[in-house]
Amino acid sequence: MTYAEMSTASLRRELSAAKREYTALQDQKLSLNMARGKPSAAQLELALGVLEALKARSEFANSNGDDCRNYGLWDGLPEMKRIFAAMIDVPEEQIILGNNSSLEMMFDVISRGYTHGYNGCKPWCKLDTVKFLCPVPGYDRHFSITEYFGFEMVNIPMNADGPDMDLVESLVAEDDAIKGIWCVPKYSNPSGITYSDEVVRRFAALRPKAKDFKIMWDNAYCVHDLTDTPDRLLPIWDLAEKNGTVDQLMIFASTSKISFPGAGVAALATSDGNIQDIKKHFLTQSIGPDKLNQLRHVLFLHDINGVRALMKGHRAILEPKFTLCEDMLERNVGGLGVATWNKPNGGYFISVNVLPGCAKEVVRLCKEAGVVLTGAGATYPYGKDPEDSNIRLAPTFPPIDELETAMQVMCVSIRLATLEKLLDERKEVYGQTA
Ligand SMILES: Cc1ncc(COP(=O)(O)O)c(C=O)c1O
Repeated sequence: MTYAEMSTASLRRELSAAKREYTALQDQKLSLNMARGKPSAAQLELALGVLEALKARSEFANSNGDDCRNYGLWDGLPEMKRIFAAMIDVPEEQIILGNNSSLEMMFDVISRGYTHGYNGCKPWCKLDTVKFLCPVPGYDRHFSITEYFGFEMVNIPMNADGPDMDLVESLVAEDDAIKGIWCVPKYSNPSGITYSDEVVRRFAALRPKAKDFKIMWDNAYCVHDLTDTPDRLLPIWDLAEKNGTVDQLMIFASTSKISFPGAGVAALATSDGNIQDIKKHFLTQSIGPDKLNQLRHVLFLHDINGVRALMKGHRAILEPKFTLCEDMLERNVGGLGVATWNKPNGGYFISVNVLPGCAKEVVRLCKEAGVVLTGAGATYPYGKDPEDSNIRLAPTFPPIDELETAMQVMCVSIRLATLEKLLDERKEVYGQTA
């Protein structure tokens, strides 16, 4: 029976039971963290070979004969580009390698539009209004970038197959102040959704009014499968090339969750025209990226098969954690009508929707019991979830026994927050005695 169907007396009994469970967990003085999508220590161990790859070598040249210890090769090693090309289905000639962070490359793409402009258009800093489309729920750090530059962010609902494309198409066709859209096309952060073929086709065929519109295609979870039936993302590059729309495509990826966040390699793929623009910026900013890091990644990973083998190791660690969270949600709050959640085939997150008006309270209750979750609202621009219902779970970092305790706290907090809300609502409708 769902909570909504229960009598007020039954709800009160449930509330007393939930309070007892919650207090017992609070008494354990926990200090657990499920806030950020970080790999666990066990995952980081899998890539230690990256650190050893160079020590054993006496020469440091890549296939072109360039000495990776020196300046040069502003756009990175061809061998590492080849690995990314296979990961994100883009020709290797279109790829530029950066240092460790793809987020930094995304920031720079926006920053270049802001200061210098794209496609011969006015720099965005010279415009009264710049708007950016933000599929929600989405990745908080994307939204932080466009907030930092003062853009107006427009929420786009996520459907089961990706962003609402009818809305995207109609908005961008009419309004040239809209300069771009954030996308995580595979295993979206946080909803786990992979865009359908139809959605990818519509993105590749998008005809915005703004000539300097950019699709920020952040393929952060391109090889991060967790099941035997992984999602398949239709490659957008070839379609965009056929449609003549590659100038508006900025594709990103990194090895942050393959080797090391903070010491991996990041990549950006885009059109020849954009590469020329970016080259000017890059070479003014730096004489070149950390090629030794790229080289040791190449020596460790070899090729796409090396990446896939490594990702199987990640899956072996992560799949039981995701299964545990899904099972605990099912067992503790399933059937009560208090929450829905996704069961992703990959990526780093589980997205939980509680009843409207309850998310902040759930996150607060968890914190009071020693479990830190991603802040409620963080998955929306400006940190404002209009429904106050979405909570992002990041199960990857804690060891599995800690995760189990954290999920107990999370589940009982969902029950508590919902029961308090339902009982309050009944008080309002029927008065104190109902
Ligand atoms: C969708 C998405 N993009 C980018 C990043 C960060 O990437 P990087 O470490 O390459 O900057 C994350 C990290 O959680 C992410 O979830």
